[in-house]
Amino acid sequence: MKRIGVLTSGGDAPGMNACIRAVVRAALARDLDIIGIRRGYTGLIAGDTVPLDRTAIRNVIHLGGTILETSRSPDFYTRDGRLRAAASIERMGLDGLILIGGEGTFQGASLLAADADTAALVGVPGSIDNDIYGTDYCIGFDTAANCAVDAIDRIRDTARSHERLFFIEVMGRESGYLALEGGIAGGAEELVIPEEEVSVTQMSERIRGGFSIGKRSAIVVVAEGETPGISFHLADEVKKHLDLDSRVVVLGHLQRGGPPTLRDRVLGSLLGVTAVEALLDGRSGCMVGEVRGELAYTPLEETWQKKKPLDEDLRRVFTILSD
Ligand code: F6P
Repeated sequence: MKRIGVLTSGGDAPGMNACIRAVVRAALARDLDIIGIRRGYTGLIAGDTVPLDRTAIRNVIHLGGTILETSRSPDFYTRDGRLRAAASIERMGLDGLILIGGEGTFQGASLLAADADTAALVGVPGSIDNDIYGTDYCIGFDTAANCAVDAIDRIRDTARSHERLFFIEVMGRESGYLALEGGIAGGAEELVIPEEEVSVTQMSERIRGGFSIGKRSAIVVVAEGETPGISFHLADEVKKHLDLDSRVVVLGHLQRGGPPTLRDRVLGSLLGVTAVEALLDGRSGCMVGEVRGELAYTPLEETWQKKKPLDEDLRRVFTILSD
């Protein structure tokens, strides 16, 4: 292992820069050549690279987004695209490649490894959705969840003042983690997540019950799932059952930006160094993660083929505390 590359792919997540910085510093400490690949798999196919030295990663640990930029590359879903990427990796002379991203990134990496005899591939989980099997937390989740709590706190002030019902929509395409943890920390009354069927009638009855025992406001945290904006439809449906003034707030991409929290900086740093060490230890085709406080190495296929279950303890806690 002499020369390695690093890229970020899929949705950006706060803490990715801390991870890039850690990869570069760990590589230089072990006398590896390191280059950055810009714009994720799109840049990998195009051979779009940037030199990475100590100067390039100076003063980036506190920045959201990704200094390498990112993309969701439709070309990488084709065999032809992946073969062009493999040829590009060969031209760059890479022995190893670190991929910071989510499920789509790791699915692409698994397909690349099946299509071509290429560099050793090691993944690092970065996704605000926290939906990747093989790690308890993904880089970016903590920052996004704190953004959601901050929004819930602010909206509670105005909800209480007007005795209103609010629907607050957070991200999370296939996973309710953001909604669940944000909902617990924000003291929300109801949760709508992709993992569960929603009954508008039952939800409306519970909200009515809350007001009847003296609650002055109610907050429903909704994970956007496959349909961003779904909260407007939900609010209309609930209105048919409840005579309450209601409003909808969709947080959207607000949650993806901003300075990473301490947790995301530490996790990004830990997993960045671990990814370089994994390559040096001869590992390939795996994702580094943290499970119950221990470093974990999960085959790339499992990270996207297996569904990360919702934390059942936290789900139970939400039900008890939201009553
Ligand atoms: O990165 C994950 C995520 O933020 C999902 O929660 C969301 O559904 C999706 O990305 C949005 O993607 P885009 O930024 O491409 O619209």
